[in-house]
Amino acid sequence: MDARAARKERRVRMGHGKLRKFAENETFACLVQPDGREILADGYSTLRDHPLKGHWFEGSGAPIVLELGCGRGEYTVELARRHPDINYIGVDIKGARLWSGAKQATQEGLSNVRFLRTRIELITAFFAPGEISEIWLTFSDPQLGKENARLTSPLFLERYRQFLAPDGVVHLKTDSRFLHEYTKALCADNGLPILACTADLYSEHSHSGPHPEPHPSRQGVSPQRSRAVGDSLPSVSELALLGSGSAAGMTIQPEVYEVQTYYERMFLEQGYKITYMAFRPGGATPIVSPASFDKDYWRAAEGPRRTFSHR
Ligand SMILES: C[S@@+](CC[C@H](N)C(=O)[O-])C[C@H]1O[C@@H](n2cnc3c(N)ncnc32)[C@H](O)[C@@H]1O
Repeated sequence: MDARAARKERRVRMGHGKLRKFAENETFACLVQPDGREILADGYSTLRDHPLKGHWFEGSGAPIVLELGCGRGEYTVELARRHPDINYIGVDIKGARLWSGAKQATQEGLSNVRFLRTRIELITAFFAPGEISEIWLTFSDPQLGKENARLTSPLFLERYRQFLAPDGVVHLKTDSRFLHEYTKALCADNGLPILACTADLYSEHSHSGPHPEPHPSRQGVSPQRSRAVGDSLPSVSELALLGSGSAAGMTIQPEVYEVQTYYERMFLEQGYKITYMAFRPGGATPIVSPASFDKDYWRAAEGPRRTFSHR
């Protein structure tokens, strides 16, 4: 079989795998897959409320934590195992990825887990004011050229404000120094309290599970991104108090360095440093783009992003 035929066969096999997962998704009680047309019926600017808005985990009374762009839901599932007294919802648009988390949660009988298949742009249709206590953003796409598509942009943070508790917290764990620095500058410029912040999580906290060795291509000559970031700047490693200074410092919780997602493992294998920060986006003053963020510098520092097969 020539290479082209082999590629075609792989695509067909993958397609069958996805179809199997989509069919099984229909059987998972923990997976909500709304028809986007119901939500969008009044157009993008006025979304229609989903019936679950304000009614997730009815009768439980426990706090609800979201993971946005959860992929296979590693954080959602592991946090739910560790904290049975808290409810978790993983959100992603990719059904084949959500299948992994939904299957795991179903097999383990985790009653404090739901998954929601939707575009995050529509998120305000699903949650009532104050319904959510924390949001995790795990290895979100930094969207180097499109601020409004970035999950920590003013546009998205204003959406989160509509349903996050007033003292609610956003956790951002990413390999992207661009996204980390952008978010840090946004917090500083808008007076949003940063509770914890490190540009190199594993220099301070070791991961107890398997920790991949750096990829051979990262051991000799560093790619543009890590060279520019790692060598030309002081190592940033601050715990607490980089924002308005009004919040108390927060110790980085073990789950931040003990849980590794699919994408995190790939980035670690390639030698990327993992960053983490937690901040409170609440308040009444509109959030604005960070004027102090040098996007050209950090875009150059980021270098070409690796692409991965989308499974
Ligand atoms: C780089 S992956 C990270 C997945 C997972 N958090 C991890 O660390 O392995 C980004 C995920 O965000 C999802 N995503 C990106 N933009 C989205 C959007 N606007 N709405 C819903 N999901 C989105 C993608 O489908 C993808 O699964």
